[in-house]
Amino acid sequence: MLRILLHLTLLIGLLSACQQNTPAPDTPATAFREAHRPLYHFTPDSMWMNDPNGMVYYEGEYHLFYQYYPDSTVWGPMHWGHAVSRDLVQWEDLPIALYPDEHGYIFSGSAVIDWQNTSGLGSKENPPMVAIFTYHDMAGEKAGKNDFQTQGIAYSLDKGRTWTKYTDNPVLDNPGIRDFRDPKVFWHEASGRWVMIFAAGDHIRLYNSPNLKDWTFASEFRGWGNQGRPWECPDLFPLTVGGSDNIKWVMLVSIGKGATNGGSGTQYFVGDFDGTNFTLNPQFQAGLERDSAYWVDWGKDNYAGVTWSDIPAEDGRRLFIGWMSNWQYATVVPTEKWRSAMSLPRKLELIATDEGPRLVSHPVRELQQLRTESTPLVAEQTLAQSIGEILMTFDLSQANDEMLGFRLKNSLGESLTVGFDPGENIFFVDRTQAGKTSFSEAFAGRHTAPRTIDDQQLVLHAFIDRASVELFADNGQTVMTEIFFPNEDFTKLEILGVEHLEEGFRYDLR
Ligand code: FRU
Repeated sequence: MLRILLHLTLLIGLLSACQQNTPAPDTPATAFREAHRPLYHFTPDSMWMNDPNGMVYYEGEYHLFYQYYPDSTVWGPMHWGHAVSRDLVQWEDLPIALYPDEHGYIFSGSAVIDWQNTSGLGSKENPPMVAIFTYHDMAGEKAGKNDFQTQGIAYSLDKGRTWTKYTDNPVLDNPGIRDFRDPKVFWHEASGRWVMIFAAGDHIRLYNSPNLKDWTFASEFRGWGNQGRPWECPDLFPLTVGGSDNIKWVMLVSIGKGATNGGSGTQYFVGDFDGTNFTLNPQFQAGLERDSAYWVDWGKDNYAGVTWSDIPAEDGRRLFIGWMSNWQYATVVPTEKWRSAMSLPRKLELIATDEGPRLVSHPVRELQQLRTESTPLVAEQTLAQSIGEILMTFDLSQANDEMLGFRLKNSLGESLTVGFDPGENIFFVDRTQAGKTSFSEAFAGRHTAPRTIDDQQLVLHAFIDRASVELFADNGQTVMTEIFFPNEDFTKLEILGVEHLEEGFRYDLR
């Protein structure tokens, strides 16, 4: 919001400088924003962004680094952009944290606080923030080599404000595997050492280290789940099952092509981890036939998501954020000054089901501070701005085959439809009529997700932010994230199946 104000001030200044009409004070803030710029999702002020990187919490700040190319709105030599937030809602832009160097571009990776100063790069009094990332050596790739991706580290002793690359980079050489990237590092308490998990094309690799500098091979994980390629941006973390004492480990694996609705997507596995090997939970494995997968998010636009490191134990949440795009069309979506946004931050949980443990996602509670007016839902309403939060509970017992959900519309006849189709037992986001689609054949479509429970009550919770919708259905058991580009903002909201609504209201958001 800080940035919105800043933009607003700058723009107003600019407009009066040009001696144009000063806008009326009650004109909505959206009027001053570029087309499609979200109001409460993180976007770079300008230029290209992809994966979230290096998310770490330290001294009251949530750090969000990201794949960034400051010279263009399409992908290029990768840097780590940087923003911080104290509440996961308002983000402050900081200068670029990591620049390409003689070892290559700075690809995706993670960051940790080295509390015990195992690396010797700081001190116990001032523990280093250490970033672990992939170097991508363009010259090596062009020369037809296979070993052009390696892992490097950098550290900061001033809360992520300035960074020093480690002098003996890379810390992990490439044995000759073309795709060898995206390290996520965490401290494994039980074995008293660091673990690095990263993707190697068609499988996952795990390494161990006492000090973040010397790494030894531990194990591989392969052959299960969706075999789309390449595997990218993994994560591995423990969660209790349904709030019990039973701890399971969740592995996230993003896949570049071949996700459930086409293109990029993120699958997950549930199992055990002993510091060396990850083994699938037998019940989870039983439901996971080869080439099938469980998805963190079934929509087309949530990729390369990973979780925050070093969230304090008294908070205890596992917090996730993803990149709200898809490699099928990320470089051609119709925004001008910048490209792409992050998803809303989410809390991940494991629940117990008859088929075994399953991952659920919830929007973080901090988002509630955006709420202003709450209004009961009626068949048709107008939104002050094209943003909002919708909560609806439907009674399915009389619904037959009618669609239940909502439609956003504008005066140009464009619309986005989101909801549940009882006939097919699927959730869907239909963006075929939602405005600009011609930039990519892979964009328009009605994208779907199967319902996993058969309650007669259906709960839909959705967030709208001008150019995106995030649907948390059945209390986060099925999630769909999709972007869209109307030629005029959607400000009309129609409820589908309003007669089956048990309860429904919307929040206007600030
Ligand atoms: C995923 C990805 C990563 C890589 C980065 C490069 O979107 O392809 O595997 O590190 O983007 O920008």
